[in-house]
Amino acid sequence: MDSSAGLNPATLSALIALVRKHTGIAMTERKSVLLEGRLRPRMQALAIGSYQAYLDKVEQDRSEIPHFIDLVTTNDTLFFRTPQVWDYVEQEFLPQWWQAHPGGCLKVWSAAASSGEELYSMAMLCEEFQAAHPGFTYRIHATDISRQVLEQARAGDYAGRSVERILSTHPDWVKKYFKPGSKGLQVVDALKRNVELAQHNLLAPLKPHKKFDLVFLRNVLIYFDQEHQEAVLQQVRHSMTPDSRLILGESESIRGLNLPYHCERPMVYTMDKRATP
Ligand SMILES: C[S@@+](CC[C@H](N)C(=O)[O-])C[C@H]1O[C@@H](n2cnc3c(N)ncnc32)[C@H](O)[C@@H]1O
Repeated sequence: MDSSAGLNPATLSALIALVRKHTGIAMTERKSVLLEGRLRPRMQALAIGSYQAYLDKVEQDRSEIPHFIDLVTTNDTLFFRTPQVWDYVEQEFLPQWWQAHPGGCLKVWSAAASSGEELYSMAMLCEEFQAAHPGFTYRIHATDISRQVLEQARAGDYAGRSVERILSTHPDWVKKYFKPGSKGLQVVDALKRNVELAQHNLLAPLKPHKKFDLVFLRNVLIYFDQEHQEAVLQQVRHSMTPDSRLILGESESIRGLNLPYHCERPMVYTMDKRATP
């Protein structure tokens, strides 16, 4: 296997183009070492001796594409990541939504959900809100392009950094919403009851078409170039109503993009009222 020799510039460019084609992620040549490190174990498992041969396989064998996507996506996430977002959802968004929709069912989309920490954070807030507001119901639709992380989200079994963090920030909720799992702590079935998980590429229209009251689109736009950021946000707005809220990651914004969104506060957006969905 010549993978130790590193990626030659032509193969690197072709791999970067393939990443962009299948995920929208914009990699630069500077990510060469990262790409090598991620692809090498898969190449070894398949006994493929060069990056060019692996590139040929992804191009010719459709069944390899999901593995390729799993390898090239970055899936870092945490429970209650960016606490001020969760304070906003708990203290402002949920009470205001309930006041405007008494007896309604809140619809949430965790787009780019990764291994599920974000969607189960939301489920915990909703369960708490439900206990205090009988009649409140919710559904969480969670999607990601990577099948591997969706399997982890489906299992809801967490160890390592995710668990350490929630143990220190929300010890009472750990007792209430987790049980011992085969890896570490596993979310209880009550948290999964109102959740559906599906594979979805944010560059494509969401199928079936749905509208959501709250959309989490956090820490994924940073991987795209401006063209794809705009394309994703154009798709997402079809899933919003004039009253929906869109939440981006803390290092993301729509500044400089030609899009009909209005920034309500840092990280929180509504659709521009003049825009037609
Ligand atoms: C860094 S994680 C963010 C997880 C979570 N939203 C958070 O903020 O903690 C980015 C996720 O975006 C997903 N992703 C990347 N490109 C995507 C695309 N084109 N469509 C859908 N998901 C994508 C990756 O698979 C990854 O799980």
